[in-house]
Amino acid sequence: MIKAGVIGHPISHSLSPRLHGYWLDRYKINGEYKAYDVLPDELEQFIRSMPERGFAGCNVTIPYKEKVIGFLDIIDPMAKRIKAVNTIVVKDGKLYGSNTDMTGFAANIAPHVSGTHKAVVLGAGGAAKAVVPALKHLGFQDRIAICNRTDERAQEIARDFEIKSFAWKDYAKELTDADLLVNTTSLGMAGHEPLDIDLSTLPKTALITDIVYKPLITPLLAAARERGNPIVDGLGMLLHQAVPGFEAWFGIKPEVTGELRERMLAP
Ligand code: ATR
Repeated sequence: MIKAGVIGHPISHSLSPRLHGYWLDRYKINGEYKAYDVLPDELEQFIRSMPERGFAGCNVTIPYKEKVIGFLDIIDPMAKRIKAVNTIVVKDGKLYGSNTDMTGFAANIAPHVSGTHKAVVLGAGGAAKAVVPALKHLGFQDRIAICNRTDERAQEIARDFEIKSFAWKDYAKELTDADLLVNTTSLGMAGHEPLDIDLSTLPKTALITDIVYKPLITPLLAAARERGNPIVDGLGMLLHQAVPGFEAWFGIKPEVTGELRERMLAP
């Protein structure tokens, strides 16, 4: 049996076992994908012993995406740049780390992006570091403007990726010529405050997307829909980021379908 899973702490809320479990059933693969709650002082031992314990690999989630880098043999260049690994593959006894959040984000919005005039990114945490290169890849190049409550973090990403940063208080002006707005902050997530932002200067044709998927329709997406803007929710990013790992571990490139989305949304 092929063995994979997701590690984090805490891990009980992870949707990844349901997602990979669906694909294992669908493609009739003799494999398992479990959630592992790993304590901080057990992390190194868990990672380094994966080859001898028969793991094909694993996903890594909060709070270990950065910390695992030190325990791996080879890191993909994009994961190095983002400074976060979310997918580990065991190959010939060696541990390879990559980051599939970038391709997951890009795949989720690519079918909906028609203009690439300018993208505005809100937030500058770990997620923004995957979103910015994805936007470059989608054709926004340097026409990306980022802001964050803590300005220095936005400035650092802007320097690293050669884009523009601006002060949070100036967002209304920045939105006037945007054709994409991305929320990468944790605001709007269940249990957090909503993202309090006035969309009135944003063109009605601009696409709005949120990386938060719990709830699926965040207050930001609800407000966007209300004024007639197209929206893309964050669930697709979760589904698409899982594809490369599943393919590497279990040998089949799985499909992201409407049925899978429904299964993920079931209580
Ligand atoms: P991660 O690195 O996992 O993405 P994070 O570092 O906590 O998580 O980043 C979360 C993002 O949400 C950050 O951009 C954070 O802004 P700060 O860098 O100023 O902390 C943003 N965020 C969280 N709570 C916020 C709030 N109440 N108002 C504005 N931004 C907030």
